[in-house]
Amino acid sequence: MTPTPELSFIHRFKPASNPGRPPLLLLHGTGGNEDDLLHLGRMVSPGSAQLSPRGKVVEDGMPRFFHRLSEGVFDETDVRRRANELADFVIDARKTYGLAAPIAIGFSNGANIAAAMLQLRPEILAGAILLRAMVPLQDPPAVDLSGKPVLILSGASDPIVPADNAKRVASVLRAAGAVVEHRMLPAGHGISEADVTLARTWIDQL
Ligand code: MLT
Repeated sequence: MTPTPELSFIHRFKPASNPGRPPLLLLHGTGGNEDDLLHLGRMVSPGSAQLSPRGKVVEDGMPRFFHRLSEGVFDETDVRRRANELADFVIDARKTYGLAAPIAIGFSNGANIAAAMLQLRPEILAGAILLRAMVPLQDPPAVDLSGKPVLILSGASDPIVPADNAKRVASVLRAAGAVVEHRMLPAGHGISEADVTLARTWIDQL
């Protein structure tokens, strides 16, 4: 087995078996790890290279991508710091593995750090699929996301993400120029079959 090169995040890397497909940056939810979304990534975009880091913040033993003060209340200084740290990791990993800019697939906390990266380091991602995202920054800097494709899939009965908060993620990114498709699914916080189908269809038409 080839050892994982020393980069700033513990991660998994799976090379592309179909180089025509976009590389994926897989960002897990609270309590997940670098293995969590590999299967989802394969279902959404078979043959894509996969780069899957583990969040460095640990809350009660659960890995995350940034600190929060309570559920849904974020330490925004940390969101900014961690989004930049993750962006730097992506740059280094792209050099190490010879990758194009990836499409992020983020779930929950992973979707929130992906949304923050779009707002703080827009050049890092070629696009993003945000599953159950919330607004990561109350006062984000002005950013140009012209033409950046973003799919947001929210759950109508999500007990963690209020519907108006999910809609706000879509409108903030759209206002910055991103090409946003936002769907409200008959689902809760967990990923459903419909998420996989919609994400696959969306990525196929990029
Ligand atoms: C967050 O903390 O990023 C959100 O509340 C979602 C989650 O529970 O991870």
